Amino acid sequence: MASVPSLASTVQQRLAEGLSAALPEAGSADPLLRRSDRADFQANGILALAKRFKGNPRELATKVVESIPANDVLKEIEVSGPGFLNITVSDAAIVETLAARAADARLGVPLNEAAGTTVIDYAQPNVAKEMHVGHLRSAVIGAAMVEILEFTGETVVRRHHIGDWGTQFGMLIQYLIEHPHELDHEGDGAEVSGEEAMSNLNRLYKASRALFDSDEGFKTRARARVVDLQAGDEETLALWQRFVDESKIYFYSVFDKLDMDIRDPDVVGESGYNDMLQETCRLLEESGVAVRSEGALCVFFDDVKGPDGNPVPLIVQKSDGGFGYAATDLSAIRDRVQNLKATSLLYVVDARQSLHFKMVFETARRAGWLNDEVKAVQLAFGTVLGKDGKPFKTREGETVRLVDLLDEAIDRASAVVREKARDLTEAEIAERGAQVGIGAVKYADLSTSAARDYKFDLDQMVSLNGDTSVYLQYAYARIKSIFGKAGDRTALAHPELELAPAERALGLHLDQFGETVAEAAAEYAPHKLAAYLYQLASLYTTFYDQCPVIKPEPPKEVAENRLFLCDLTARTLHQGMALLGIRTPERL
Ligand code: ARG
Repeated sequence: MASVPSLASTVQQRLAEGLSAALPEAGSADPLLRRSDRADFQANGILALAKRFKGNPRELATKVVESIPANDVLKEIEVSGPGFLNITVSDAAIVETLAARAADARLGVPLNEAAGTTVIDYAQPNVAKEMHVGHLRSAVIGAAMVEILEFTGETVVRRHHIGDWGTQFGMLIQYLIEHPHELDHEGDGAEVSGEEAMSNLNRLYKASRALFDSDEGFKTRARARVVDLQAGDEETLALWQRFVDESKIYFYSVFDKLDMDIRDPDVVGESGYNDMLQETCRLLEESGVAVRSEGALCVFFDDVKGPDGNPVPLIVQKSDGGFGYAATDLSAIRDRVQNLKATSLLYVVDARQSLHFKMVFETARRAGWLNDEVKAVQLAFGTVLGKDGKPFKTREGETVRLVDLLDEAIDRASAVVREKARDLTEAEIAERGAQVGIGAVKYADLSTSAARDYKFDLDQMVSLNGDTSVYLQYAYARIKSIFGKAGDRTALAHPELELAPAERALGLHLDQFGETVAEAAAEYAPHKLAAYLYQLASLYTTFYDQCPVIKPEPPKEVAENRLFLCDLTARTLHQGMALLGIRTPERL
């Protein structure tokens, strides 16, 4: 593992040194470097500095240029406009840096020196309920953050805070007691599919709900059952467990379809914190963070008020003694900080729960469970909209079943694959179709910033043109096919060669991979990585059009150097897509 400093960081450092030599009183000032169309980079920090120290910016810029000793990286620095610096790096420096990246399995991406432990709360469906697009977003964004953070050296603990507790279980369990064979499976020990498991649960849910609403006697028995469940009555718990197990069969089948690795020990649902709830309340009440109000244990906030102007509290314990969502989340914070030793808590949850998390985090801060050493962040995501721009519903106004959506995406993608590659077998088409379809769904979610709502538009998602995963997957497969045709030509870096503009642009972008990953990790912003990869594929397309690799045949060294660029592009695409949880098939 050898981390490779990017050219941007090398240039930045050289300029900073030049700056402090030319203007020592500025201390370690930032030259404000960015990529530019005029040259490779532009620095425009000198303007503000000259202003601050009452100098002439162009003169200062010239002095900075003169203070930078001759070196192999900077080919040209030109003072332009009112005092900008336009910087061109040498072709050799580009190729040498890329060669150092290529020699490293991590592509030279450095590990974060300040890495800690992040607990990510994501992919949290609810027991006995169908998964919907909101659960998709949490799973997809969360899984990408797991990969991105782990790649930067962070220790990541995954937590799937499934909804496996609450009063609805009284109704479900009581129904099962009165209709004992409703969850039995046909045939002994036969594998149950996720689909079957969910349809069993659905049927049971509907039937018990209907009874609950129409039969007062059942309602009373169901309520008493909740008390038994909370008291830990064994028979009741065993039945509750059957619902959880049945649901897990379904969850895992969906995660499997999503090509997502969810592990059982990481599934710690709401029920996992039952033993802590009493103590959480006691600690909050004793410290005065929570107070009794009309029998309930509440936490109040100056800035949280209802429409009538009255404060809306966070209710930690209801007046009937029951605990809700807040008590569980507060207990989970104690567990994650004190037992799992988290330094960051990340919650990938729908933006509509933002007020809940704001109040929960603030309460935990007041209680001292969160402090300067531990931060908590909600990576809040927006709503998935239908093509019409309204929240995604079926024509009948029902929530769309996630499985149906995924199946449709796979169908559409398979059609695209079939059309393009006529020599694939049916099995290959099915495999690629799944990789392309699921990739398309994930990429559509990850390529817009999480906070924004986005339209679920399958036609757009599986399109070969534009900012889609299929476009990226094709770019990757195209490179692989070049290698198939390359014969005995090898990929080899040649720093002595002069680069064409498209090669330079591609090379400089490849060099930015590490910075992009670091930014996506630090800002919890996988869409920045997606945007980087899309740009990489676009720059590659231009390179491919302008710089022949095999036909017409360029001189041997040029061909080798181009193959080298192809190879590094493929590896960067592959690694980047893997961080987003998307496959890059070798052939499409
Ligand atoms: N199960 C919840 C839902 O379906 C999401 C849970 C979010 N995580 C949490 N720690 N509260 O909306």
